[in-house]
Amino acid sequence: MNDPARSPEEEGIRLQKVLAAAGLGSRRACEALIEAGRVSVNDALVTAQGRRVDPATDVIRVDTMRINTAPGLVYLALNKPRGYVTAMSDPEGRPTVGDLVADRPERLFHVGRLDAETEGLLLLTNDGELAHRLAHPSYEVPKTYLAEVLGPVARDVGRRLRDGVELDDGIVRVDSFRLVDSTANRVLLEIVLHEGRKHIVRRALAEVGHPVQRLVRTSIGPVQLGGQKAGKIRTLRREELAGVFALVGM
Ligand code: URA
Repeated sequence: MNDPARSPEEEGIRLQKVLAAAGLGSRRACEALIEAGRVSVNDALVTAQGRRVDPATDVIRVDTMRINTAPGLVYLALNKPRGYVTAMSDPEGRPTVGDLVADRPERLFHVGRLDAETEGLLLLTNDGELAHRLAHPSYEVPKTYLAEVLGPVARDVGRRLRDGVELDDGIVRVDSFRLVDSTANRVLLEIVLHEGRKHIVRRALAEVGHPVQRLVRTSIGPVQLGGQKAGKIRTLRREELAGVFALVGM
């Protein structure tokens, strides 16, 4: 029960304890962060010790980096293998990303979708607000894809994709295009774009004459797939999560 005689700052858990629990160091070290003017609560700098917070609802930042202090909220990166449907379950019994997180206790949502045949980075979380914002086109989160296509690729393909190509449901423009590697007739392209229409990369490349043979998403905003193995899940690092929050204004 809330005590009406107490101000909100007098209730809750001590800020240094919350910071320490979030992995920022010992309580002493976290007091030093506060003392140094590096910590804010709900965008107000806190420099005095003794501040109490609600870790579930207060927005706590260190050096502008938002820290996840909410108990129970998880932010995961999965390397989705080819052949898995982006769904938590499938009525037709196909393998799903839900199968890959079946042993987790949280009720997770996938953030956006990858086609069953597409591999790579997929975020999963039980933070509904973040999932909603990340999937919303207005936040324009950049995503990077590696696409293997049949070559050779004409010199003007990058320019055409940057200028915009007409699809059935409107123009698509890529933010960047790079030829990463090419062998006799296989070419590896890197494409960055910030929209998420269905099959968008496959459709854009088919439109410029290069149907995709293999497609891997390698980054979403500040989160990189790196060397993560197919089917493996990891928790986002503090800097990655802060970067994701920043992208969507949280
Ligand atoms: N574009 C596609 O064509 N497929 C995906 O899975 C993601 C982006």
